[in-house]
Amino acid sequence: MKVLKVVSNIALLMVLVFAMVACAAPATPAPAAAPAEPAAAEPAAPAAAEEAPKEFTYSNMTMCYPQLGAESDWRTANTASFKETAGELGVRLIFSDAQQKQENQISAMRACIAQGVDIIALPPVVEDGFEAVLTEAKDAGIPVIIVDRSVSADKSLYAAHIGSDMVLEGEKAGTEMSKLLPEGGKIVELSGTTGSGAAVGRAEGFRKTLASNIEIIDSQTGNFTRAEGKPVMEAFLKKYGDEIKGAFIHNDDMAIGAIEAMKAAGLNPGDIKVVSVDGTRGGFQAMADGWIQVDVECNPLLGPQTMELALNILNGKPFEAETITIEEVYYAEQAAELLPGRKY
Ligand code: AHR
Repeated sequence: MKVLKVVSNIALLMVLVFAMVACAAPATPAPAAAPAEPAAAEPAAPAAAEEAPKEFTYSNMTMCYPQLGAESDWRTANTASFKETAGELGVRLIFSDAQQKQENQISAMRACIAQGVDIIALPPVVEDGFEAVLTEAKDAGIPVIIVDRSVSADKSLYAAHIGSDMVLEGEKAGTEMSKLLPEGGKIVELSGTTGSGAAVGRAEGFRKTLASNIEIIDSQTGNFTRAEGKPVMEAFLKKYGDEIKGAFIHNDDMAIGAIEAMKAAGLNPGDIKVVSVDGTRGGFQAMADGWIQVDVECNPLLGPQTMELALNILNGKPFEAETITIEEVYYAEQAAELLPGRKY
């Protein structure tokens, strides 16, 4: 019996050992000497964490355009250029009109940032005071293109600027006024919106090239509108009468308002030599009628170039940080002929 018990114990032990070995062994034995494959030959598993950067096209791009206002024919043409270009290219454009108020522009930008637009194109109403909102856009990863006028904020806060060289426009105007008044004399200035890049630049450039025998006896803002240009000129005429030999007027809309005041005062075309800026159809008509002698062009048709620039910025392609529009100077003698071909 004792022998039997020992034998049965040994048998149990063997069954247990077999069972343990069977559990530990692989179902199919691995080849004994399988050659080690280099890791690189293994098909790479897709890296789940790394997403391919989005490829932007016009039709998947959302651009925010917080327009500064609707103060002039120039601005109307600028708005149309952005809306028409967006429509043609399929760009989603978020447009707003700030009615010449910086706080409205800043609110519109904040709304665009909150919506997560791809890019903001900002035509700033004035130069100063955009640092905070530009920083917010940068922190949100939304590039900003400054369009038309300039900002005083550090260049690191925006991607690019596209627009006119306002100082150069003023320089051209100063040169032309000097030619119109070779004997010198007293002139007045109707300036654009106070603190705007357009008004600051044009005033600076004009003074650089104006002949020393010409004196600017007064300078007041007409805020780039016809409605405000007229009373400013009325006040000048009342105060200085026929002392005024010339007027440098920062845009065509104010010039048209000022011409109404001149007509009401009984003046004739050319009694006051007028140099204006923009080159709108209204400005060309006033040149053809003899009221404006020279019009320095400022091109508002910035939609196509801005959208192309936006696409390059978003896709990480090379782009120009500063694009200056090429502009002409037009004279009264050419106006009637060129008027039908003016695009704005
Ligand atoms: O910034 C461009 C200027 O703004 C244009 O000369 C003027 O007409 C507009 O209001």
